[in-house]
Amino acid sequence: MTTQLDKELEAEVAKRRTFAIISHPDAGKTTLTEKLLLFGGAIRLAGTVKGRKASKHATSDWMEIEKQRGISVTSSVMQFDYEGHRVNILDTPGHQDFSEDTYRTLTAADSAVMLIDVAKGVEAQTKKLFQVCRLRGIPIFTFINKLDREGRDPFELLEELEEILGIRSYPMNWPIGSGKQFCGVYDRGKSQLELFQGDDHKHIEVRKVSGVDDPLVKSIAGDYLHSQLSQDIELLDVAGDPFDMEKVLKGELTPVFFGSAINNFGVQTFLENFLQLAPKPEPRNSNIGAIEPTKTNFSGYIFKIQANMNPAHRDRVAFLRIVSGKFSRGMSVRHIRAGKDIKLSQPQQFLAQDRDIVEEAYPGDIIGLFDPGIFRIGDSLSQGMEIVFDDLPSFSPELFSKVTVKNALKHKPFQKGIDQLTEEGTIQVFTTIGFEDMILGVVGQLQFEVLEHRMKNEYGVDIQLQRQNYQFARWLVDDKIDPGKFRINSQLVKDKKGNYVVLFESEYALRSAIDKNPTAKFLTNSP
Ligand code: G4P
Repeated sequence: MTTQLDKELEAEVAKRRTFAIISHPDAGKTTLTEKLLLFGGAIRLAGTVKGRKASKHATSDWMEIEKQRGISVTSSVMQFDYEGHRVNILDTPGHQDFSEDTYRTLTAADSAVMLIDVAKGVEAQTKKLFQVCRLRGIPIFTFINKLDREGRDPFELLEELEEILGIRSYPMNWPIGSGKQFCGVYDRGKSQLELFQGDDHKHIEVRKVSGVDDPLVKSIAGDYLHSQLSQDIELLDVAGDPFDMEKVLKGELTPVFFGSAINNFGVQTFLENFLQLAPKPEPRNSNIGAIEPTKTNFSGYIFKIQANMNPAHRDRVAFLRIVSGKFSRGMSVRHIRAGKDIKLSQPQQFLAQDRDIVEEAYPGDIIGLFDPGIFRIGDSLSQGMEIVFDDLPSFSPELFSKVTVKNALKHKPFQKGIDQLTEEGTIQVFTTIGFEDMILGVVGQLQFEVLEHRMKNEYGVDIQLQRQNYQFARWLVDDKIDPGKFRINSQLVKDKKGNYVVLFESEYALRSAIDKNPTAKFLTNSP
């Protein structure tokens, strides 16, 4: 029998979209996020999100590091409503010094928006983040930004998507000219022009046309641009991939949009198409199989823990992605790993800088739970079901340091600090075989700085970090493991769960290990 709650869940799930924006720093992520929020009326003033970049985290000392460097090490969540949809944007730090947190945040998204600078194409950080999305097979929507500036040939960019990322593309619209000559885009599906005009290049006009050879297109674009557009569209129609929704949903084909975020050009079209095409909250795997979002029992998992804020208190905020059921403030849920029931009384929802207490939330939503130290990354919470969601993978760090405590008498607080920071996902700990040395791995240099700072300020421990030459880690799966095999330009270690991991100094060292160990698997993330 269908209950009221079933109906409510069905409707709430259907309207939700939860996604992350992946890009390289400076591609325009902050600008695009802000425009999207403005459409939803979530923020009144442009600049609110921008302000976050150098935001007022003054209550926390270690956040000073982030403030001084004008970047954000932590990701948060923004929510807005648009035409019957509820949209959750998971923010990911944009700076070079991004962390494993960024990768993990992507596990809470159901789709991703890949933002690319028209002049720069696919850049290093976009590539790394893309690979994590690929691993999960989530749909990826591409926005090529800064068309108001001179950029690269659009075909060249599409080729790059295929060559570097291995994803095929379907341009939903196509630019007419670029830079100073940019006059707008031609919408392939709707056969319409979106024009970018006026002295300030800010006036946006939509004109319906019969096709690319409509006299209106000619009169607006001029002979030269029109003939180029006409050839381009013909080439796309004949030689390009057809639109295939199944492939989009599997992350094999990316719908591509062109625009200029700062001029708010192409953003609304992008948003409207995205909301139509992007998936609603997806089920998540657990020990009892896939948990559908419309299941009435509440469930969710912690994908991120953010240390507070106030160094006087060691409390933290745990970010929970709701997988199924309805959340109501004050409800009691089972903390499966701890084996006890807890009451969720002060949950927060995030919106740009403000945090509101959330009364109700549904699958796809992210809520922040007050964490006095009871949660770990990957913890499952649920009501009326003993379920454990699949482990969140660890991703290969890129920087490694041996860590020791300067004052041996401080070993206890040292161990406690390392344990807590590992739980938060700031660092990964590896132990060498035999000597039991501790090697820490991080994704960005800033993580080491945060670690040193927090160990001193929160745990009163001075640590010594000794950089190691390794560049990446691979989880080793083999029937027989022989530590003697990994001595040259590599080292065999164990991660915190006891999995074998090999640290490599170079691609060459990895390739030679693969050649010499044909039965072994070298995984880029934990099994
Ligand atoms: P990020 O979060 O990805 O790092 O990028 P952000 O939005 O901060 O944008 C990076 C720079 O690119 C900013 O300029 C921003 O104004 C500019 N930008 C974003 N979208 C567009 C676009 O469509 N066209 C053009 N021409 N520029 C764009 P900035 O000079 O670094 O900062 P600001 O002084 O403008 O704040």
